[in-house]
Amino acid sequence: MTYNLDGKVAFVTGGGRGQGRSHAIAFARAGAKVAFCDFTGSFDHTAYAINRPGDIAETEKLVNAAGGECLAIEADVRSLPEMQRAVGEIVERWGRLDIAVANAGIDSYTPVQAMAAQQWQDTIDVNLTGVFNTIRAASPQMIEQRGGSIVGISSSVGKVGTANNPAYIASKWGVIGLVKAAAADLGPHFVRVNAVCPGYISTEMIDNGTLPPLFFPDNPDATEDDVTAYVNWAVHTIPAGRLDSEEVSNAVLFLSSDQSRYISGSTIDVNAGWSARFTA
Ligand SMILES: NC(=O)c1ccc[n+]([C@@H]2O[C@H](COP(=O)([O-])OP(=O)(O)OC[C@H]3O[C@@H](n4cnc5c(N)ncnc54)[C@H](O)[C@@H]3O)[C@@H](O)[C@H]2O)c1
Repeated sequence: MTYNLDGKVAFVTGGGRGQGRSHAIAFARAGAKVAFCDFTGSFDHTAYAINRPGDIAETEKLVNAAGGECLAIEADVRSLPEMQRAVGEIVERWGRLDIAVANAGIDSYTPVQAMAAQQWQDTIDVNLTGVFNTIRAASPQMIEQRGGSIVGISSSVGKVGTANNPAYIASKWGVIGLVKAAAADLGPHFVRVNAVCPGYISTEMIDNGTLPPLFFPDNPDATEDDVTAYVNWAVHTIPAGRLDSEEVSNAVLFLSSDQSRYISGSTIDVNAGWSARFTA
């Protein structure tokens, strides 16, 4: 299906790389003007660099190449004033804001009994408070326009529990609750709020060597391919391996388009059938 977002303005948080970059390019291809934010800080508990020099410029280049007008903003989703500044810049540039994708996220693995308070707090601050800040900053403009679509990026582990990941999982369950609460508040203003729940997606967040020892603690020779084989067999039900970010962008695009105008407070799972293992 193709979507026509001509005349719309979209904002993606964490658009410097990975899935956020893919969403930004998809919006540009669909005709939207695209703003994205990212930040250049780091956390001592993530096994991967949060952002690399050049990431932001590369997304900007790719969005422009996809035919879109692009506004790249450095802003940290943990800060409400920074998110309000970002929305202010977007509205100043294009006069409106129709779509906001709260995508920025971090992940690091520690069992609950050993998790440092700061690791817990950082993860909640980015993954959950960051989504709140995005909704809080974007919604007044959308209310004024009497319409808009906000998509929060949760996860398939926003619907189940797995080992070694309590802060991330709590944050992603929280995103679903927040999206439903915000959909109730914003529905009367024709502003929709939904979540997308990806499964294993091939980005730096998971393709960084962390997973083999977690999945196979007794096998020091375990590889990323072993993890993917396990995911094919025991997690996803369609053996497609780790999915490309574009698969998630397809769902984000649908929820951002008028084709979903009466869908709000919902979640869409993009997880090669992992949903088959959920209760509902
Ligand atoms: N990769 C997966 O398998 C997977 C699965 C389910 C959900 N997700 C979620 O998808 C979203 C995108 O992740 P990804 O896979 O593209 O990972 P990624 O690490 O490649 O991208 C995350 C982006 O968010 C940015 N970011 C982090 N903290 C930020 C902050 N405080 N302010 C602004 N930007 C910040 C990073 O710089 C990076 O550009 C995340 O919310 C993640 O939790 C990922």
